[in-house]
Parts: sequence; structure tokens; C-alpha cells
Amino acid sequence: MRPQEGLFHAPGAFSAIAVLRLSRNEALPQLRETVRALYTELSAAGGLHTVLGLQPSLLPGAPAASALLPREGPTARFPSTQSHVLVQVSANGRELLLWALRRVLALSQAVLYLEEEVLGGRIGEGRDAFGFRDGLLRPTREQVRRAALVPSGPLAGASWLLYLRFLQDLERFGRLKPQARERVVGRTPDGELVPDAPAEAHLHRARASGAGENQLLIRRGFPFRHTGEEGLAFVSASADPQYYERSLDALLGVGGQTPDALLRYARAVSGGLYLAPPTNWFDASSSQRETPP
Ligand code: HEM
Repeated sequence: MRPQEGLFHAPGAFSAIAVLRLSRNEALPQLRETVRALYTELSAAGGLHTVLGLQPSLLPGAPAASALLPREGPTARFPSTQSHVLVQVSANGRELLLWALRRVLALSQAVLYLEEEVLGGRIGEGRDAFGFRDGLLRPTREQVRRAALVPSGPLAGASWLLYLRFLQDLERFGRLKPQARERVVGRTPDGELVPDAPAEAHLHRARASGAGENQLLIRRGFPFRHTGEEGLAFVSASADPQYYERSLDALLGVGGQTPDALLRYARAVSGGLYLAPPTNWFDASSSQRETPP
């Protein structure tokens, strides 16, 4: 079973998320043909990386996943705005990215409508909106295979996608002294480990679940700015949704754990769990292809 190639690529200079909802329940039978056409066209465009996920219950053979979202800890909450289809597109040029987003809309007309769209991209050499280097440990193809792909069974080659859109409070974080900021993240802005970072530092909380060093999940998020607000469109791929439960609980401080200090400065405003089927799920030629620029 061939996984979606986009899973192996970090977002390029430009990246976007489109979340789409079925326009009406009667559109369900057309959904498969629509996402098939979408995936076939976008994945054929050179230089564009595409990952397409569906609400898990839409895929035959998907286990009835226990509700991952919403999820709550003593000090923060990750909401659910679960929808039907999530498309992440990434490119090194903005023209190609915009073409892809236009095609998503054109091909999904009458079956899906656009519920949420986030456009963003790399800041500098790869920093988050707080100015900290992010995505430091680049996963190899083998690490992606191990951490992000369902290894066997009816879903072999599929990948569980977690999407969480965070708004970051730049003003509040900016009021902290530089040393205090580093202790919130657990790294310096340039990515050096902070040796005496407290247990609540983001790095320690992320590692507490075993998700550090590309072990349980592969991060594919990107920073964005929209109508005066900045944040992170957090996207990740994993072989097992239970790893997300562990990771999110470790950040939220569920079950007596220490909540993540970063969540005092970043608030999740939307999110959902999707399943990216292997490419054979999309097989069948599409009639209305367009050539990219
Ligand atoms: C606004 C939200 C977030 C921001 C600004 C953020 C930022 C960062 C930064 C700056 C790093 C250090 C650089 C690096 O190791 O690549 C990092 C590491 C990491 N984050 Fe986040 N993060 C956010 C949310 C999340 C969430 C929701 C998860 C998990 C579900 C997560 C999991 C991780 C992991 C696994 C690491 C790497 C730990 C390691 O391998 O050492 N992060 N994050």
C-alpha cells in the first residue's frame, strides 16, 4: 500500500490548510469521486506537496477512534472543529500554492464547502511566531515510515493526521525576559537546549509522552498570520491516534502531569483528527484535470 508522498516532505516556503465540510448529507456518495479527483490532480503537480485526510469514519476499516478532541487539562483546552476533509498543500512558490487552493475549491464545488483556510509559510530559516527555531530534527524517510504510517491491516500505509490551529500571544510572550522565554520553550531561540529548563518547558512536556526526536509523530506545521493574529497551524502525522492522546495529555497536564508552560501563551482555536488513506484509495482516472502553472 503506497502512502501519500506528501507525508514525507516538510512544508516548503509556503503552506496552506483547507478544511472542507460536506455541503449536505446527500453529497456523501459523491465525496469519494471528488476527493479522488482532487488528490489525483494535486499530487500530479510537480513541486507541490499534498496531504489529504478524511474524517476517520468515512474510511471503511477505520477503527472507531475514541474522541481525541475536545480535550481539556487543568489550565487549557484543545477544541474540536472536526470536519470531513483536510487538505494540506506546500510549495516553494506562492503561485503554485494559490493554484492548488483554487483547484481545491473548483473541484469540490457542490459537494464540499470551504470551512477554514489558513495560509502561511516559513519565517526566516524556520522559526515560529515567537522567533524560536522550529522543526530542528528533520525526520528521515525511514523515521516517517516508522512513526507516521499504519504498518499493517486494512489501513496499511494510511496515516493519522492531527490538526490544531494555535493563536500565539506575541505581546504577552514578548513581555517576558529573554531567559524566561527560553525556559518556556526549553530551547534558546537558535535551538540550543536549555540545560536547567523546568519540567513545564514545552520541550520536556513534548518529550514526556515519548514523542521527542520524531518517535511517535512527525510534525508538519507552519506559522501563519491572518487579520492581525499570528500562530501555528500544527499538523502532525502518526501511525496510531493513541499516541496523540498521550502527547496531548502530556501538554495539557492531564492526570496530575505538569501542564506545558507554552500553553499560557498559545491557545488552540480549532482542530480535528483526520486519516490520510494510502494512494490506492484514490485510484481511478479523473476526467477534469487541469495543468498547473
Ligand atoms: C503553538 C503551539 C506550538 C509551538 C509554538 C511549538 C513550538 C515548538 C518549538 C519552538 C520546538 C523546539 C524546536 C524543535 O525541537 O523542533 C518544539 C518542539 C516540539 N514540539 Fe512543539 N510547539 C507547539 C505545539 C506542539 C504540539 C501541540 C505538540 C504535540 C502534539 C508539539 C510537539 C512537539 C515535539 C514532539 C517537539 C520536539 C521535541 C524533541 O524532539 O526534542 N508541539 N515545538
